[in-house]
Parts: sequence; structure tokens; C-alpha cells
Amino acid sequence: MGSVLSNRSAKDRRELDYYPTPPEVTHALMDFLKLPRDLIVWEPACGEGHMSKVIESYGHEVISTDIRYTDYGTGGVDYLTAKPVSCDAIITNPPFKQSAEFIRKAIYEAPIVGMLLKSQYWHAAKRADLFDKYPPAWVLPLTWRPDFLFGSKGGAPTMECIWTVWERGQTDTRYRILSKPK
Ligand SMILES: C[S@@+](CC[C@H](N)C(=O)[O-])C[C@H]1O[C@@H](n2cnc3c(N)ncnc32)[C@H](O)[C@@H]1O
Repeated sequence: MGSVLSNRSAKDRRELDYYPTPPEVTHALMDFLKLPRDLIVWEPACGEGHMSKVIESYGHEVISTDIRYTDYGTGGVDYLTAKPVSCDAIITNPPFKQSAEFIRKAIYEAPIVGMLLKSQYWHAAKRADLFDKYPPAWVLPLTWRPDFLFGSKGGAPTMECIWTVWERGQTDTRYRILSKPK
């Protein structure tokens, strides 16, 4: 019975694209951006708070919401239909299938937006319009492959990632690599 339930919850989690982000991924972004501590950050797909907790450790107030109910943040909030929240930055690892919609909405709602994406995200004709219409300020590839399964499956992680950051008024896209924080 236990395994049936845990299999089902694993399936539910996959359907909502729940892959918690290892902390060093968020540290790499925060160390790079060096945001003033008084900025308020919204994590609109917070899951169990893996990103929110790191962002908070940089002194920010973090508003954490997710469509699912977990032990963390406010559940039952579909970001794509949620009213805007007063904040200075939106930072998340969005559900992959809805990532473009997350990006389009977030850009209107916050002057700084950071999205964790697959490294080949911009290698797609269907996203050229999104990139051209909203040129990011930064494209920041990670120089390591994060382990989104936290070692539970064994084997080497395979996914390569980039942070893409939009800053209102900065449309000249710059490219820097991020090293894994020690
Ligand atoms: C890839 S996980 C990332 C979780 C967390 N941001 C992290 O990095 O650890 C994507 C999260 O998006 C949530 N999600 C999926 N669709 C959503 C929506 N429409 N609005 C808000 N959250 C959503 C899922 O429940 C899941 O927690």
C-alpha cells in the first residue's frame, strides 16, 4: 500500500513538474546578482521552499506561493491566474510546460525576473519571439549539472541549466558563466 501511495504522489509531482532545486543553484544566482537586501522577492512556484529559503538567507523578504499545498508557503495559488503581488523581483524554477507563460507574466509584474531553464531553452524557433520581444539582461549558464533528484536515483545528473534574468530597461543581453559555489 505504501508503495502504491508513494508511486501515486511521485506521479502527481511529476505531472506538476515538481523538481526541487538544489541550493547551490540559487546561491549562484544570488551571489551574481547581489540584490539590495531590502528588495522583496516573489517565488511563485515555491514547492517546498528550496529556492525561497536560499533567497531569504540573503536578507530578502520572500513571498512563497505554489499551485500545490505543501508544508511551505501559500498553496492553491495558480501563478498564471494570480493577481500581481507587490514585489521587486520574481525568481523561480518554473514548471517546464508553462515556462513561457510564467516568463511573459512575470516580466510585467516585477522589474527583475530570474528563471531557471534548461540550457537549450533558447534553441527553439518557437521561443525566438519571446526572446526578441523581451530580450533578457543576462543569460547565465551553470558550469555543472544540478542534481534535481538529490542523489536518490544514483548516477550522474544529466540536465544542464541556465539562469535567464530580465531587468527592466536592460535589453542588451549579456552572457556570463556561473561557477558552482563552494
Ligand atoms: C520545477 S518545480 C520547482 C519548485 C521550486 N521552485 C524549487 O525550485 O524547488 C515547479 C513547481 O511549480 C509548481 N507549479 C506547477 N504549475 C504551477 C502554476 N500554474 N502556478 C504555480 N505553481 C505551479 C509545482 O507544484 C512545482 O512545485
